[in-house]
Amino acid sequence: MTADLTQASDVTRFRVQLAEQLGWTFDDKDVPQLADVLRRRAQAADLRSGTYLRRLAAGAWDEELTALAEELSINETYFFRHAEQFRALAEVVLPERIRDRAAQRVLSMLSVGCSSGEEAYTMAVVAREALPGPDWIVSVLGLDASAAVLRRAEQARYSGWSLRETPDAVRERWFHPRDGEYELDGRIRADVHFRRYNVAGEDADLWRPGQYDVIFCRNLLMYLTPALQESLVRRMTRSLAGGGYLFLGHTDSLGTRPEGLEPRHSHQTFYYRRSSVRENTAPAPRPGPPAPTAPIPGVPVRPAVRPPEPDLRPERDAPPDPGERATSVLDRAMRLLRDERFAEALTAMEGDRSADPAPAEMLLHAVLLAQAGRLGEAEMECRRLLDADGLNADAHHQLAVCLEGGAAVDVAIGHYRLAAHLDPEFAMPRLRLGLLARRRGENRTAGVELDRALGLLRREREDRLTLFGGGFGRIALTNLCRAELEASGVNR
Ligand SMILES: C[S@@+](CC[C@H](N)C(=O)[O-])C[C@H]1O[C@@H](n2cnc3c(N)ncnc32)[C@H](O)[C@@H]1O
Repeated sequence: MTADLTQASDVTRFRVQLAEQLGWTFDDKDVPQLADVLRRRAQAADLRSGTYLRRLAAGAWDEELTALAEELSINETYFFRHAEQFRALAEVVLPERIRDRAAQRVLSMLSVGCSSGEEAYTMAVVAREALPGPDWIVSVLGLDASAAVLRRAEQARYSGWSLRETPDAVRERWFHPRDGEYELDGRIRADVHFRRYNVAGEDADLWRPGQYDVIFCRNLLMYLTPALQESLVRRMTRSLAGGGYLFLGHTDSLGTRPEGLEPRHSHQTFYYRRSSVRENTAPAPRPGPPAPTAPIPGVPVRPAVRPPEPDLRPERDAPPDPGERATSVLDRAMRLLRDERFAEALTAMEGDRSADPAPAEMLLHAVLLAQAGRLGEAEMECRRLLDADGLNADAHHQLAVCLEGGAAVDVAIGHYRLAAHLDPEFAMPRLRLGLLARRRGENRTAGVELDRALGLLRREREDRLTLFGGGFGRIALTNLCRAELEASGVNR
């Protein structure tokens, strides 16, 4: 009797730990299975149940959480699962995102709870088929708490059963029969990366605002506690670009008016569109035009300038202290830039310009001017900055961004090189040089520059990612860099 009671309370504590550390909620009917898992895991760790639970509660026991994730999660998945959602992706979502990303030619997507990779690879296949040209970069990141399923995802070999819903034409184009299985084509594999991540944990970089075009999070929310469901949906919403899309599983509903998301219906399925990058306000403008400072050089389109928002004048008329004024304008504009509210950031800066702006203000002004398509003015601002300090690596970089799309590509390359030379820790000019070389078919140069960029991106300064990342965060840029490095075919 006492032993039974102890075990029941142990299982209750186990459920609390699973909720806190993996965000999982279980039904009472799962209690016998949980009791069995608790007994086996405690035995495997050579601990009594009570000691095992205390150790689990103390945290920082990563291997055990991984083992529990492997033991208890349901990993059912297959290619083109809920095919109607992939039809909506191909026919509604991607055409829109491709229009919005025309200047960058990059699509960044996320599969949360990707299991053995079928969902993430399906997203990449559908994107590859929808893209207007092979020079676009598709970057899909798959996340899962279980290391075992991610190992299978990395192998990219699947049974015929996994392909049971895959259209024949897709199977023939992107899968190669190998020893009774199907191996995914290398071009799709290069577009997709995987990472172990427990959604109950934080990761600021992963959830950086405005970085993904599309997020799939299907058949995961239903296993999570209401608090974690809410926090995950909030993080996913924030990290979508304005106009980006979220697909959930059939049983996951966010109600009729989820914050920041507009429900959409087509192809007999529901999904959500990020209504605006501006939080909690309406009406919400679409984000500004694609940024020429995006990490893909391509031909910078001179986007139409959006009219500034009328109600976005700085909050104060005449701050007393010029230093304090500069800091507050800069902070405000950087915050807006981080949220991809480019036009508002520019309005905020231009509404409160000092006669003698600090270098950081001039640089940000140049970045925002370039993003608004006012490349000539942006170039002038960079040159003014360089007149005052010819060794300013950021200014050389931004000047190169302004010049890269015009006839002066070689001059731009010179300024990127100078920026990289002046600050050997600066990843962004290396990335730009690598991408430019790729576009010019100079794969050897591309390999060298992208390899350096990859190493430096890990510790690139946050403010530089915000200023020069074109709305892409560290992870998206790293994925882009990796994908281009692989595509350059240079062995490292
Ligand atoms: C049923 S599968 C869904 C696979 C795919 N999204 C689909 O719909 O076909 C759920 C996945 O979520 C993963 N998962 C469960 N809890 C998680 C957590 N806390 N963090 C990250 N992934 C988790 C599981 O390991 C499992 O692979």
